[in-house]
Amino acid sequence: MSSQQTGIPSTLPKGAPPVRHYLQFADFSTEEYHYLMERAAFIKNKFKTFVRHQTLVDRTLAMIFEKASTRTRVSFEAGMYQMGGSVVHLTTGDSQLGRAEPIEDSAKVISRMTDIVMIRTYEQAKIERFAAHSRVPVINGLTNEFHPCQILADIFTYIEHRGPIAGKTVVWVGDGNNMANTWLQAAASLGFNLRVSTPSGYEVDEKVAVTPRGMGTGSYKTYSDPLEACAGADLVTTDVWTSMGYEAENDARRKAFAAWCVDSQMMAAAKPDALFMHCLPAHRGEEVQADVIDGPQSVVWDEAENRMHVQKALMEYLLLGRQN
Ligand code: CP
Ligand code: NVA
Repeated sequence: MSSQQTGIPSTLPKGAPPVRHYLQFADFSTEEYHYLMERAAFIKNKFKTFVRHQTLVDRTLAMIFEKASTRTRVSFEAGMYQMGGSVVHLTTGDSQLGRAEPIEDSAKVISRMTDIVMIRTYEQAKIERFAAHSRVPVINGLTNEFHPCQILADIFTYIEHRGPIAGKTVVWVGDGNNMANTWLQAAASLGFNLRVSTPSGYEVDEKVAVTPRGMGTGSYKTYSDPLEACAGADLVTTDVWTSMGYEAENDARRKAFAAWCVDSQMMAAAKPDALFMHCLPAHRGEEVQADVIDGPQSVVWDEAENRMHVQKALMEYLLLGRQN
């Protein structure tokens, strides 16, 4: 959605790209993802070799958290400071957001004083309402429906370890949640094959996840047996059985998901060089066995670190457009 569409003038300098938001994976084109992957590699290399990359001097990121976070907060906050900018951190409990100030009013105010906003909240509709009233780009830092920054980091991590992901087979084992929805959108954009195995009653809601463009060159198939889904896979990935906001269902979920624990048998069914990913935080002995997440095929620590590198590229792209 551009500022022209909302009728809200942007505060961005002359020549800057029109305001765009990153609310779900489907918001960017395949070609934009190719650019972002290359740019993130460039920015990461600079960080690793102690070369400054400060394209966002004097810019301010507002981070709004209505749910808990470790990785999202640290990666956005450290990343923005590294790029020369600064950060304002708000939570529901210590701002007027928790005292029922309308989201539209909050968006108008926050976006007059900051240059870019990252929000972690509950319903996707809430972040969409904020974005519709924001003068500046809004990034989804996780909603009930989507977690696009995580999948951006996961795809980057896959490419770092194994090269292009197009044509590869990715298996999702577990809940049909925000991560699964986002993997589905990523398969459509980037042309890989996605297999999803969930317990009955916890399937992906295709009305939420499927993009208006359909599956593109990617494919999507569901499996009732997670072991069968893992056969010949290039990447096996999972997530907690109970996402934030669904804690009341914890006991029922523990029972329903018991067979959806990624173990060494599932990894043995995948290709010998298959990777294991988990967005973290993880519960060893629930959705994944310790020997898998702590084993040689696991790249979970790279995934976590790469959040910061890809999000630096994302913030730069939303604020400045292409840089080469
Ligand atoms: N993976 C992820 O988003 O982690 P946090 O909840 O710690 O931010
Ligand atoms: N699906 C999990 C991801 C946590 C990063 C949740 O929403 O809680």
